[in-house]
Amino acid sequence: MRTTLKDVAREADVSVMTVSRVIHKKEYIASETREKVEAALKRLKYNPNMNARTLVTKKADFLGLIVPDISNPFFGDLVKAGEGLARKRGYSVILGDSGGDPEVEKSYINAFRSRMCDAIILIAPRVDDMLIRELNKMVPLVLVDRQMPDTDIIQVSLENKDGAFSAVEHLIGLGHKKIAFIKGPENVPNTHRREAGYTEALEKSGIPYDPLYTFQGDFTRETGVLAFDAFATLPEMPSAVFGSNDLMAFGFIQRAREKGYSIPEDFSVVGFDDIYLSALIDPPLTTVKYPIVEMGIEAIRKLFDSLESKASFTMNEQLRHKLIIRKSTKPFSRS
Ligand code: RIB
Repeated sequence: MRTTLKDVAREADVSVMTVSRVIHKKEYIASETREKVEAALKRLKYNPNMNARTLVTKKADFLGLIVPDISNPFFGDLVKAGEGLARKRGYSVILGDSGGDPEVEKSYINAFRSRMCDAIILIAPRVDDMLIRELNKMVPLVLVDRQMPDTDIIQVSLENKDGAFSAVEHLIGLGHKKIAFIKGPENVPNTHRREAGYTEALEKSGIPYDPLYTFQGDFTRETGVLAFDAFATLPEMPSAVFGSNDLMAFGFIQRAREKGYSIPEDFSVVGFDDIYLSALIDPPLTTVKYPIVEMGIEAIRKLFDSLESKASFTMNEQLRHKLIIRKSTKPFSRS
């Protein structure tokens, strides 16, 4: 495996940025620090020209990319955007779909490492923080759609809590008080951020949190269907539902329709993601939009910036949401 700037930084006990400054002889660096870095470069036999060459040669290099569910258009669009940019830069992408199973993620990580992938891009991974930290020491890594703020891991993520807050605030603004929540899987950190946005929005408006209005889903359409069935057994059904991704919101709408209800007349529904299908379904879904394509492109761009040791790139970037109001929500009117 090629020695990376990170290896050198660790060896010299300085930041990657400092190593890069020493290599490019750009700015003033204390002579003691410079010597430490130069010694580490020598010890690890780091060859900057070789690293740069890999990025300009036309030989097929590989990036390993792992997603939890390629059938969710959120990930399909993200991968497509990232793959397009990687290909332009001479890299081929190998894709692993973990099905949201951390064990499958681990086996893809091992497979990609043993086949000498130049970097690994982990998208919304389910493995624990410890493994991600370890992996970051061993191979160039980019983390997408998962936040690990206290690390030097290159990452692009979303401010999930604010997005969820906007979704629920929108429903409250329409006069809804019985607002149900379809939650994502427990082992996904985004799930808890979205849940925090939901509970905070309720709290801010003085609406008591009722656990009966939360259904444990798993980010699939099928669990949106099950959520409807569960809420249908309650003494009082909610008048609005926040599905914490679009697929679960679709499942809820599908089942409500099958049972003879209308959207938004009987239930206002908000999703989360704004996958392309959300504008096409009937009624078009009100949802929290994230710049999915931009996220894929940014992830690959950051990877190349780090491999090329650009001094100015942002390691940790959080993308902003936008609430898109379509036809699946309306003011509360149930008697
Ligand atoms: O894992 C599924 C979900 O995670 C997506 O729908 C998107 O919201 C992502 O954050």
